[in-house]
Amino acid sequence: MSDKPVRIGLVGAGAIMRLSHAPTILRSPDAKLAAVFDADAGRAEAIAKDFGAARHTTDLKALVEGDDIDAVIVATPNFHHPEAVLAAAAAGKHVLCEKPLAIDVASARAMVDACAAKNLVLQVGFNQRFWAQVQIAKSLIDSGVIGEVHAFRSLYSERWNVYPATTRYRYDLKASGGATIIDLTIHRIDLIRYLLGDFASICAELAHSVVPDKVDDNVWLLARMKSGARGCLSSDRYSPAIGDGTDIYGSEGTIHIATETQNPFHATPLAVHTEKKAADLPPVLREAHYPDAWWKGFEGGWIQLRPPRRNPYDAQLAAFVASIREKKPAAISGMDGLRAQEVVQAAYLSMRDRTWVDLPLAADAPFVVPAY
Ligand SMILES: NC(=O)c1ccc[n+]([C@@H]2O[C@H](COP(=O)([O-])OP(=O)(O)OC[C@H]3O[C@@H](n4cnc5c(N)ncnc54)[C@H](O)[C@@H]3O)[C@@H](O)[C@H]2O)c1
Repeated sequence: MSDKPVRIGLVGAGAIMRLSHAPTILRSPDAKLAAVFDADAGRAEAIAKDFGAARHTTDLKALVEGDDIDAVIVATPNFHHPEAVLAAAAAGKHVLCEKPLAIDVASARAMVDACAAKNLVLQVGFNQRFWAQVQIAKSLIDSGVIGEVHAFRSLYSERWNVYPATTRYRYDLKASGGATIIDLTIHRIDLIRYLLGDFASICAELAHSVVPDKVDDNVWLLARMKSGARGCLSSDRYSPAIGDGTDIYGSEGTIHIATETQNPFHATPLAVHTEKKAADLPPVLREAHYPDAWWKGFEGGWIQLRPPRRNPYDAQLAAFVASIREKKPAAISGMDGLRAQEVVQAAYLSMRDRTWVDLPLAADAPFVVPAY
């Protein structure tokens, strides 16, 4: 493909398209918004008009088969992701699919296979990987700055009524596959996989505590990683403060990441505790430390970093365009989406059987949303 802008069709015209994907395309010199599809004609028309798309439709086939698009971004209720991705693959269009890839592993696998069979890019919308603090943390972990990682904790909470969603699909488990674990916690499942590698085993406690609908709003996952590390992921959908922090504990240091929301407990986007002396620190940490006096060197302790805030959707779209143009694998692949999906499905099996569940799941593992 030339370096002409990649022409994109939106599948869905809800909140995340209006808040993020459409304006991101508008900002990008490498992408062009060509067409919009939504089951709701008014919403499709409004986004097309507001962001300059030439056409809008309520017919999925008409969107994906148009020769005015090279790729689609899919952001409909989770249950509808597979039909959109399979239709796009059949029409030979590259896909950036919002997380979760689907609601169950079997559907995710079909989506991965369909795109692979046509050599199409399938990227999954785990945009938090693109935060600068996450990228720095990844490089510090990979280069051994905090030694061997043995444990982690990750929290991601967002009250059910703060995000300006267009519909209430999240609270209809048939459409969403989960209200909290598959919407919020899945970001952290992916983040931990990105930083520490694959999950080996999961034990879940999912509960309904407060929100008006009988859905998972109180999520706890205990995890064993293939690396030998252990950890805990938690989310809730009822506490008023938005909570967002990840801690990684290594034999030679600790990393704290707050990917978005900061509060008194998560007061800096990235902090690293190390006992290394200044000369042994990588430049990114040495330069971030301000000593009490210029003649004093760093002698161990916490170093706080405040990297410039970047919009992760810009980096996400740039990675998608680069994969299409350079015919290279997606930065966050369909398999990454499938692996995260497996952790959710394993958590559901753990709830059903009240036991640890090993990963990867068998191909015929059932998908059973718990009754709350
Ligand atoms: N990466 C992130 O951080 C992030 C953030 C928000 C949303 N998302 C994902 O984006 C997706 C949409 O979320 P949202 O917040 O925009 O939801 P929303 O409720 O605001 O919008 C959903 C849209 O889908 C449309 N729709 C419903 N059924 C449809 C169908 N069968 N075919 C086509 N369109 C249909 C609705 O009319 C609506 O416009 C979800 O998968 C969600 O997980 C990801």
